[in-house]
Amino acid sequence: MKPGNGTDLRRITILGSTGSIGTNTLDVVAQLGGRDAFEIAALTGNGNVALLAEQARATGAKLAVTADDAQYDNLKAALAGTGIEVAAGRSGLIEAAERDAGWVMAAIVGTAGLAPTLAAAKRGADIALANKECLVSAGDLFVRAVAAGGGRLIPVDSEHSAIFQSLEDTQRHAVERIVLTASGGPFRTWSREQMAGVTADVARAHPNWSMGLKISIGSASMFNKALEMIEAKHLFGIEPDQIEVIVHPQSIIHSMVGYNDGSVIAQLGCPDMRTAIGYALTYPIRTKLNVDRLDFAKLARLDFEAPDEVRFPALRLARTAMQRGGLQGAVMNAAEEIAFQAFIASRIGFLDMAEIAEAVMERMTDIPPALSMDDVFAADGEARARAAEVIAGKEKAA
Ligand SMILES: NC(=O)c1ccc[n+]([C@@H]2O[C@H](COP(=O)([O-])OP(=O)(O)OC[C@H]3O[C@@H](n4cnc5c(N)ncnc54)[C@H](OP(=O)(O)O)[C@@H]3O)[C@@H](O)[C@H]2O)c1
Repeated sequence: MKPGNGTDLRRITILGSTGSIGTNTLDVVAQLGGRDAFEIAALTGNGNVALLAEQARATGAKLAVTADDAQYDNLKAALAGTGIEVAAGRSGLIEAAERDAGWVMAAIVGTAGLAPTLAAAKRGADIALANKECLVSAGDLFVRAVAAGGGRLIPVDSEHSAIFQSLEDTQRHAVERIVLTASGGPFRTWSREQMAGVTADVARAHPNWSMGLKISIGSASMFNKALEMIEAKHLFGIEPDQIEVIVHPQSIIHSMVGYNDGSVIAQLGCPDMRTAIGYALTYPIRTKLNVDRLDFAKLARLDFEAPDEVRFPALRLARTAMQRGGLQGAVMNAAEEIAFQAFIASRIGFLDMAEIAEAVMERMTDIPPALSMDDVFAADGEARARAAEVIAGKEKAA
């Protein structure tokens, strides 16, 4: 039997196929039968055109899209004679999302993933959601767009996949809390003074997970956990005060659900995104994957610590954003994307990222709630501009 849906070839699209989640998704696809089981409607990337072309050739993808217009000719040349269609830019991404695939992996990094993911959701595709920014920025509007399209929203973030797997559908009324685990990142035990001078190369070295640059730096600052708190609120429809974060340095428990009878149900596994990706691809069926198995005797212990919101203020910002509601998630996320770019360009320090996000959130407390996606994009754009101003001001003052 073909994985997931019986005997037909499954047609899928991977938005962001050249990234960490994208390449892991292609590995899972290969493990589950490759071209005998799946037809790839479209693959998309940005700057890494050589890898995108290699992936498209290897999988026989129908369409390959680079988000970067300037790379169109390179991609076209790399795929010459293959019969694989080529497109570029924003419109190319939307075209990829609109191709007739029943399952779409949303693995573009940042808010750049929102418009194409939304296009796939609107036409009713099942969305395997790695791009948490869709939910952080567009929140309930995004959830409603998926529901209106008729597809399913299946989380891929390991924490949210764990919660999804631990949530008993008939017992939603009994859920008291969800507990998001966090590794604590490379600076778990560092003081703010120590963190102040770190470079992006130091900050990206995650102790347990191998991931893309943005999420690795976000794990070090715990901004990624802040985004995940907001993601959880929208995905599972729970109140902010039902969301707990616990630091768990081994990254073995991926997250937990606490019920009103005192039970806590957790999902455990080695830190390998292919488990969550495979679950999203074959849901509700589990399929054998070639990933490491937990060896509990070797593991011996699991540790937990309360998070420190003074050293890692991003968690506090997420609570503020959820309390304020409306477009504060979009504002926080956009400001942080700009601050992240400035940090990796060595224009600002590591601790400045949260400071800039907070400064922009404080300047944009009065924006009205979003009635449409245009409102989301407008708030996103304004927050980016304001973050750039704050950064320029900092540079001038230095
Ligand atoms: N990595 C993980 O383990 C992990 C775990 C949970 C959730 N996530 C989430 O999954 C998403 C992807 O993360 P990642 O770690 O896989 O990121 P990544 O390795 O940086 O890959 C990002 C992908 O997006 C493409 N891309 C970059 N900028 C783009 C733009 N402006 N427009 C369109 N495409 C663009 C990249 O293309 P090029 O490579 O060709 O430039 C690449 O295909 C993020 O939202 C992240 O938070 C990741």
